[in-house]
This record gives sequence, C-alpha cells and structure tokens, in this order.
Amino acid sequence: SAAGKAGHDHYMHKEIHEQPNALRQAISGRIDELAGNASLDIDLDDRFLQAIDEIHIVACGTSYHAGLYAKELLEELVDITVRVDLASEYEVCDGHDTRRTLVVAVTQSGETADTLSAIRRAKAPGMTTLAVTNTVGSTITREVDDSLFIKAGPEIGVAATKTFVSQVTALALFATYLGRLRGTLTAGEGVDILGNIRQLPNAVQSVLDSESRIRRLADQYTGSDAFFFIGRGPAYPVALESALKLKEISYAHAEGFAAGELKHGPLALVTENTPVLAFLNQSASPEETLNNVKEVESRGAPVICLSTPGETASFCNHTIEIPDIGRLEPLVANVALQLFAYHVAHEMGRPIDKPRNLAKSVTVE
Ligand code: G6P
Repeated sequence: SAAGKAGHDHYMHKEIHEQPNALRQAISGRIDELAGNASLDIDLDDRFLQAIDEIHIVACGTSYHAGLYAKELLEELVDITVRVDLASEYEVCDGHDTRRTLVVAVTQSGETADTLSAIRRAKAPGMTTLAVTNTVGSTITREVDDSLFIKAGPEIGVAATKTFVSQVTALALFATYLGRLRGTLTAGEGVDILGNIRQLPNAVQSVLDSESRIRRLADQYTGSDAFFFIGRGPAYPVALESALKLKEISYAHAEGFAAGELKHGPLALVTENTPVLAFLNQSASPEETLNNVKEVESRGAPVICLSTPGETASFCNHTIEIPDIGRLEPLVANVALQLFAYHVAHEMGRPIDKPRNLAKSVTVE
C-alpha cells in the first residue's frame, strides 16, 4: 500500500533510506567503548571461540556477498582462515577438524532452503553453527546452536538493501569480538574499528543526501550495453553486490569483477558504451585499481569512481565521494550504488519491488 511505503514510490527506496536507522538498531547496546570491544548477545562458549581454527560461511545471493565482506574483516581482525561458500555448493571435506570449526549461515529471512540444507550438512559431522539473520523465530534459528540478529526491521522489496549493510555490520561486530577474545586485536585497535562502525549511520546518511546527483548519473547512463563494477579487498564483494542489485531490478547486463581480473578476460567486453564503476576507496588498494581504470578508460569506457574525498583521479569521468571510514568505506559506497541501480530501474519503468522471476525468499533447493 502507499501508506506502507511512507511516501516513497517503492519499498526498495524506502528501505534504502531506512539504512541509517537500521544501522543504529544493529549497533545499539553492542559497543563497549571502554573495553574496545563489542558486546554481543550470543551464547557460544568463549573457550570454543578461542579454540576454533576455521570459519566456514554459507549463504546465497546478497547474503553471500555479505559473507565475502565478512571474510575480509575476519581475516584482518581475527587472523583466522575463513572459507565462504555458496550454500548450494557447500560440502564438508574429510580430514578437517570439525570440532574446531564454526559454520556461520548468513540469511536475512532464515528460510532459504539452500542455506538450511548447508547447515544440516555441517551439523551431520558435529560442527557448531551460528546464524546471522534478521528474522527472530525463523526456521534457521531453530536449527543452529546460536543466532546473531541483525535487527534491520522488516524488508519488503525483493532486492535486499538494508539487510546487506546490517549483516556486514553485525559481522564486523562479531569479528571485533573474536579479535579481542583471541588477542589478535588490542583494546586500542578495537576502539578504532568500533569508531568506524559507530560512524556508519552518518556516513550512509551523507551518501543518501547526494541522491539527486546519483540519480542524474543513473539517468545519463540508462540504456548502456552493460555495466561493470570493479574493486579490490572489501570493495570486491561490494562490486559483486552492486552488479547483482542492478541486474535484479533493471534487467540490464551488469557484472562485478575483482579489479585485477579485468585484464584476464572481462576487458574484452569493455567499449565506449559500457560504463565502469570503480571503487577507489582508501581501504581498497586505490592505486592498483587506478591502473585498471586506465585500462578501461583507454578503451573509451565512461568511468564513475567511488572515492575517498580528495582522492579523485583525472581518469574518472565522474566521482562520487564516500566518507573515509576505513575498512567499512566500501560498505557505504554500496549505498550509492543501491541508489544508482534504483534510478536506472526506475528510469526503465521496471517493477522494482517485484522483479520478474525472483522471490524474496526461495524455499526450494
Ligand atoms: C533470494 C532473494 C535475494 C537474497 C537470497 C538469500 O534469492 O531474492 O535477495 O539475497 O534469496 O536470501 P536470505 O534470506 O537467505 O538472505
């Protein structure tokens, strides 16, 4: 109903704009500033969490991209081996120590059949399981050992938006907690990362405030042959997610690539009619990515850069500035590209909240 959309044309647009508040909810009560630690309402035994030597993350779709982002954070803050699998592809290999492995299912709905089935495969040899979910009382919460709730509030639009940023935020808090527990993170380093997490709502708001500019860019490039998103480190999963968002709601051809892989094949697709959206954020190796930007620029592709303020490069035809909040900056850049996808799809007259062939939650394998 129009009332449910609170004056927005679509639920997706409303939910994009709800992100600062969704993030405040995800963070609220979970930061212990003095201790430089996250305080999370989870019951997993601390001795177990100290002893694990591997984390497996299983998820589908947008939640899989949140898992890939979490891998970056966990490897850096906790110094632990992390494997991220599409839930439908997850197999437990023989010979690895199942008692020292934590399997984390990331699922907004808690009802995705592929993810539930991966969790059942993990439980069979006795692995400990954690769900990161938005839905209290969902099927997954009844099957796992413990749940971490992302507290994003209900999401109606089929294309996930606020649940993605809230998933990554909850996982950033979890990584901080693990790092402090296992001694890979000092209290001072904990304060730093928590400071970045605390800045997220305002950083996202500043991107939302630049919507009219992002909309003009979307209008300018609607109708392009394809859109490519390139990034490194934590910006790589965001490149995948931004491309998924655009293809889901506009049906345009969109692909996300690790910036370094461009030259190993995808460069053949680049023309003057394929805009390239490049993440040049401080935490995402901007100098290396800039070399890849030069490669596409010399083939005539229009380049839209997402950059830390003051880092604009001459190769960019357009720059969207993203507040510098360390390793979470690409997560904020993602919000700019949610708006980009939304406005391309809107310009094309697509049924944004209910794209053809897609469902909010897929309960068959
Ligand atoms: C469906 C939705 C996607 C979502 C995926 C995983 O395919 O259309 O937006 O990312 O399921 O959903 P989950 O609820 O497990 O996060």
